[in-house]
Amino acid sequence: MSFVVAIDGPAAAGKGTLARRIAETYGFHHLDTGLTYRATAKALLDAGLSLDDEAVAERMALDLDLSGLDRAVLSRHEIGEAASKVAVMTPVRRALVTAQRRFSGKLPGTVLDGRDIGTVVCPDAPVKLYVTASPEVRARRRFDEIIANGGTADFEAIFADVKTRDERDMGRADSPLKPAQDALLLDTSEMSIEAAFLAAKSIIDERL
Ligand code: C5P
Repeated sequence: MSFVVAIDGPAAAGKGTLARRIAETYGFHHLDTGLTYRATAKALLDAGLSLDDEAVAERMALDLDLSGLDRAVLSRHEIGEAASKVAVMTPVRRALVTAQRRFSGKLPGTVLDGRDIGTVVCPDAPVKLYVTASPEVRARRRFDEIIANGGTADFEAIFADVKTRDERDMGRADSPLKPAQDALLLDTSEMSIEAAFLAAKSIIDERL
């Protein structure tokens, strides 16, 4: 059976970095499930289709090819916004969760990161991590990243965006973002990603 590490948390908390580090360390397959929502949203935007039609969005989600997902192509702000809108639709979630569960069975193990992995996608995962940080710290990381890449950014706008996205993810009826009861909480506001990785590694080693 595949060994699953489920990682959840809000945007820019450090989940992705942690997930990649764990996958590399253990030779596990990694799926950033946010990309599945982003790719569904991009397919709708590219085709000039409405983001409000559940049946059309579901069709896009069912047709999604998990092997072609690339964060570089899907990172645009409008795509993230659109992704969080299609992510409230139950038929879209059902289609993507089915694909994510299939992925989670890959041997020898998998790391999935997102918003509902420990609660809905892989509730039986032997290791569940909930990675978070304060909205200020997360907005600051986004801001610093844009500046480091030579871009321009408005901190207040990013901060407002982080809070809106949190509200939408935590407030939706279907699969809201919340820690699984048995998740290990890692708050990266004060803790380095390295320290979070070591905490995660020790529980993985214990349960592997
Ligand atoms: O993590 P990322 O910002 O790429 O995710 C984009 C959007 O997809 C999130 O704001 C969230 O609404 C949605 N999502 C989700 N469930 C997941 C992963 C992402 O609803 N497991």
